[in-house]
Amino acid sequence: MGYKSLCFGFSCILFAYFLYSPIPENIEEPWKVRYLDATVKVVSYMATLFENIGLMKYEKLFSTSSVFYITQAVSDENVTVIDTYFSNIPVRLYVPKRKPERKRPAVIYIHGEIKAYDNMNRLTSNKLGAVVLGINYRLAPKYPFPAALDDCVSVTKFFLQDKVLAKYRVDPTRICIMGDSSGGTLAATVTQLLRNDPEFRNRIKAQALIYPGLQMIDTFLPSHREYAHGPILIREVMLKLLSLYVANDSSLIQASLRNEHMPEESRHLFKFVNWSDFLPEKYKKNHVYTAPVLGKLNASYPALVDSRLFPLLVNDSQLQNLPLTYIVTCEHDLLRDDGLIYITRLRNVGVQVIHDHIEEGVHGAISFTTGSVVLQLGFKIRSRYIRWLEENL
Ligand SMILES: *[C@@H]1O[C@H](CO)[C@@H](O)[C@H](O)[C@H]1NC(C)=O
Ligand SMILES: *[C@@H]1O[C@H](CO)[C@@H](O)[C@H](O)[C@H]1NC(C)=O
Ligand SMILES: *[C@@H]1O[C@H](CO)[C@@H](O)[C@H](O)[C@H]1NC(C)=O
Ligand SMILES: *[C@@H]1O[C@H](CO)[C@@H](O)[C@H](O)[C@H]1NC(C)=O
Ligand SMILES: *[C@@H]1O[C@H](CO)[C@@H](O)[C@H](O)[C@H]1NC(C)=O
Repeated sequence: MGYKSLCFGFSCILFAYFLYSPIPENIEEPWKVRYLDATVKVVSYMATLFENIGLMKYEKLFSTSSVFYITQAVSDENVTVIDTYFSNIPVRLYVPKRKPERKRPAVIYIHGEIKAYDNMNRLTSNKLGAVVLGINYRLAPKYPFPAALDDCVSVTKFFLQDKVLAKYRVDPTRICIMGDSSGGTLAATVTQLLRNDPEFRNRIKAQALIYPGLQMIDTFLPSHREYAHGPILIREVMLKLLSLYVANDSSLIQASLRNEHMPEESRHLFKFVNWSDFLPEKYKKNHVYTAPVLGKLNASYPALVDSRLFPLLVNDSQLQNLPLTYIVTCEHDLLRDDGLIYITRLRNVGVQVIHDHIEEGVHGAISFTTGSVVLQLGFKIRSRYIRWLEENL
């Protein structure tokens, strides 16, 4: 009992401290953003504390805090919502009730806790008359790389079968893959893998990547430096959670925080993420490019050099034939430069990219459109994305 009240008191003090820490000036609804930012930071500090005293694994507290958003499959007047399995993997389908005049478009939506995105998928389905397919893939650290990717690929291939598309009256020429944050990473990889697979080469019309993370080999991009302490996404938290997806090894986390985690044999990959080459001048500011420090870690992790984990690590010929791409980047987001670098690389090889940069944006805004604290910014990004779908799918 004693330690619980101690923890509670400690959390309150931390919360008050973070609540009053400064955030960038042009952010809308600054107190709500401060509140969310402080919440993430307190969870992170408490998780570190709990782990250090052996009470709970760091990542456990994060997964515990996300269950609040889980919703049941409930149909409404416009959309039939079904929980089912594709290829033995749990999925949630949103099928419009109104009779289609022609075949329907479809959106394959990739995000870890897909059930948290119920509103957005319902809205997409209703506005576009689209079938939305959410994939409940297996999550790290319980299921490390490439479990999540394997699930997404299996479900997507299952869905793309003629008989399945016909069952839901989906037009095979109007299918988009979409994901935000780590879901954006998976969406980008699934799109690449299908594009380079002769059987599926032309099956995806478009991809939509909302503030995606696309690499972890250089953890000192300008946006990593500027927004290391948030708002909302913190460098240390991101690297800890990402490292756990690669391997259960704390030395990897420590090394990645110092940007000294890559092996000697990875030197050839750095040209794919070189911000000095790919970042528009505006975002370079007065940051100085530093060459990577390689070979400091003794253990090597094959996943770290695997383009199926980090879609920026493929060469130009593998990017060349990617479909129409929509990318949202947020200014105040440590993943900003991942998206910006991908945009430059895609455009360099002739891929058509529509870029929506949100000047007052923060990471994860779309997640804050349900629950107790909602951000207008989240609604704004959501409606811009849906409008893009209406015009392009
Ligand atoms: C159903 O669709 C109509 C028209 O788009 C909309 O006004 C209504 O709010 C929708 N109902 C629900 C439950 O979303
Ligand atoms: C990770 O490693 C620690 C010890 O290094 C071990 O106790 C723990 O069970 C491992 N976790 C997983 C998910 O393998
Ligand atoms: C990154 O780009 C800069 C400027 O073009 C160049 O000097 C540097 O050698 C490049 N580094 C790597 C690792 O490619
Ligand atoms: C890594 O390997 C070198 C040489 O084999 C050794 O001297 C060093 O102690 C090792 N470092 C760690 C962290 O294990
Ligand atoms: C690009 O990568 C693919 C797959 O690794 C390889 O087969 C191909 O030769 C590479 N192309 C170039 C131009 O390096």
